[in-house]
Amino acid sequence: MEIDEGLGARKQRKPTHCEDCGVPLEDPAPNQRYCPDCLSRRDMLKLGVLGSAALMLPLERVARTTLALSKRIPEGRLPRPFTVPFASPPVLRPVRSTTTTDYYDLPLEVARAEILPGLDTQFWGYHGIFPGPTIKARRGRPSVVRQTNRLPSIHPTLRYRPWSSTHLHGSPSLPQYDGYASDVTNPGEYKDYHWANTPEGRTLWYHDHGVHHTAQNVYMGLAGQFLLSDDLEQSLPIPHGRYDLPLILQDAIFATDGSLVYDDNTESGVFGDVILVNGRPWPAMKVERRKYRFRVLNASVSRSFGLTLDSGEPMTVIGTDGGLMPNPQDVGYLRLGNAERYEVVIDFSKHRIGERVVLENQSPPNNIDYSTTNVVMAFEVVSERTSTRGNSIPDVLNPHSPIMKLDSSMATRTRRFEFERKHGLWTINGSTWAEVISSGYELVSANPGLNDVEIWELANPHGGWFHPVHIHLIDFQILDRNGRPPFAYEQGPKDVVYVGENETVRVLARFGPHNGRYMMHCHNLVHEDHDMMVQFQVGAGGDDPMTAAPAAPLPAPRL
Ligand code: C2O
Ligand code: CU
Ligand code: CU
Repeated sequence: MEIDEGLGARKQRKPTHCEDCGVPLEDPAPNQRYCPDCLSRRDMLKLGVLGSAALMLPLERVARTTLALSKRIPEGRLPRPFTVPFASPPVLRPVRSTTTTDYYDLPLEVARAEILPGLDTQFWGYHGIFPGPTIKARRGRPSVVRQTNRLPSIHPTLRYRPWSSTHLHGSPSLPQYDGYASDVTNPGEYKDYHWANTPEGRTLWYHDHGVHHTAQNVYMGLAGQFLLSDDLEQSLPIPHGRYDLPLILQDAIFATDGSLVYDDNTESGVFGDVILVNGRPWPAMKVERRKYRFRVLNASVSRSFGLTLDSGEPMTVIGTDGGLMPNPQDVGYLRLGNAERYEVVIDFSKHRIGERVVLENQSPPNNIDYSTTNVVMAFEVVSERTSTRGNSIPDVLNPHSPIMKLDSSMATRTRRFEFERKHGLWTINGSTWAEVISSGYELVSANPGLNDVEIWELANPHGGWFHPVHIHLIDFQILDRNGRPPFAYEQGPKDVVYVGENETVRVLARFGPHNGRYMMHCHNLVHEDHDMMVQFQVGAGGDDPMTAAPAAPLPAPRL
């Protein structure tokens, strides 16, 4: 086996974008790396005008963050937990269906809602909904989803241009439909995403991926679930229909006027004091005495969760990011890094009517916690079961998962990637997305052959932070973490893995089914934006993510 340090050849090109903030450079000088704004900030830093806490922060944002936080709602005036009723996001209907394909309209819109009782909050939502509507699809039946960017030309307080790019996380999409960060759709433009829905049934999510502003865009509300079913998933006697529900976990800070406060703590992470489940603060859900299946997604920008039940009972994990696990796993504690999905069955039949079960958060390390962040939601047992269908968990769920069948002896290569903060920037093997931009999108950090099996070592050698590492295109099997087996709940197909302080996680994957350039990044979206993201090239050639299907100006033709 060969060891590859992971850095491919670098080509320098005429600069096109600012390396700090990513804005296009107008008429750049040959060696110019930054836009005038970032350049003057860098000069201030050199002169020592700004303290080290302001390192890499645009000047006006230092002032803005301090101001915004001073307007934050005091903890004592937040709603009491379990007083707001639970709800699931609505399911999106296609605008048109042919014998082969479903077409959806999913505009990015400014909208308002009463997220905290009595307060009006402006947010950005797909279809004006927070979080976005759930899309349901069947394996083998493609979806075409039109993203029309109807956001304002500039964010009202953060003062950036809200370009977007939409990633269907969990889908092996073609490069031009994968939400490639720099393939942006600007306000006033649209783009149709073609998602083939070829993989095994699973819980996916769609979210913004716009270069250098993903954290802010997602924080503003641009995320939703996408549920892909298949014959196996449908045939099992596990909970379906109204007993199979999304639990989208997010955190946020609100100002006294109801507006969302964005504070990324010097580009390290956004940590809210309000926990939202499907857009509701600490909701209470009425349940029957039976089993429920929850599609738990950590859609927070930076926060990780450590879920437990106050009853001390185990939860049964039946699915991971890439769908059903080979066998169910009972766990008392379930850790979710950003973007991780777990399908979790909770059995309320052991409880009497009138009892309440609380889903708690034993916060893992590296989060900023508040007195309000140790609970997530509550389940109130209100009635006997009204249906006995889908009320069991077979001992064998998915014995033929192609990912879990991979064996490390099939690997032809091992590559190592180190995730660390260097000179105020988050890097992968010292590299950043700004370098990818300045290479004209040619710099690649790895080049596995099409359908090659490889082991990737994802390392966080210096600690201080956890990095939820996401590799686009593929599913992987977790081999080990610091040489020890993965946790019981990680024993299924994954596409994000929690890499904790001083940990090295080895994952095994087959690189396909497409040739082309795909991203790998930390899914703490603040790290991703600044600038812990690189790309790898599978095979040779492949569709160009930037030019194969660019966004087009409005008006759009009929879908
Ligand atoms: Cu969910 Cu590249 O991200
Ligand atoms: Cu992804
Ligand atoms: Cu990170």
